[in-house]
Amino acid sequence: METLTPAQIEGLKQQAAYYAVEHFVKSGMVVGLGTGSTAEYAVREIARRLQARELRHVVGIPTSRRTAQLALDLGIPLGDLNSHPQVDVVLDGADEVDPQGNLIKGMGGALLWEKIVATAAQQVVILVDMRKRVERLGTRTPLPVEVEPFGWRIHVPFLEERGGQVRIRATEDGEPFVTDGGHYILDVTFPNGIEDPWRLAQMLQSRAGIVEHGLFLGMADVIVVGTLEGVEVHRGS
Ligand code: A5P
Repeated sequence: METLTPAQIEGLKQQAAYYAVEHFVKSGMVVGLGTGSTAEYAVREIARRLQARELRHVVGIPTSRRTAQLALDLGIPLGDLNSHPQVDVVLDGADEVDPQGNLIKGMGGALLWEKIVATAAQQVVILVDMRKRVERLGTRTPLPVEVEPFGWRIHVPFLEERGGQVRIRATEDGEPFVTDGGHYILDVTFPNGIEDPWRLAQMLQSRAGIVEHGLFLGMADVIVVGTLEGVEVHRGS
């Protein structure tokens, strides 16, 4: 794949985000607000449209404290899932998208809340630039696995036996990164990618202490890809 300049990459993210807001966010909706640099363009565009009165009566449901702060700063009215358990649409980014529309998410550390909001949403719209497309999940980024801090080391051999190389995510000070939910993240690299994401997801889900993982399988309804030739829109499977 050709190398993109940082300016081109930002342009592709913006393109995908603006398209998604224009086509999927309507007045009166409860809108899940994703986390990450691509979702941030969408949050800013929603705020701009609200201010310009092109959109009215939108309630945002943020997927992280970071996004909540951004939305508050931009003046987007916010709610939470307990006051608004039905979300019309969520706009969020992803770290990888495979040809079936399955995703890896969580490099921004917000996967648990992102997955909860996606679960509550009628429509899950994913915004990515073309670099995020992969033939096989796990070939571009590690798989983030969110774990309870209590006894987190017990998951290392479990993940290694399944072909992963495990690294605990750390802050710049070398301390474990703590998620909004108060958990740690293990970044698991699979040297040849993830052979069977559905099987791996099942194994991770059934293990005590693993709170969530970044495999979003069969969850995306629409994938909006910013490419140098313009926006491509795909339906998830
Ligand atoms: C946040 O936890 C992630 O799931 C993000 O959606 C993902 O990392 C994409 O972020 P960028 O849009 O910044 O690449």
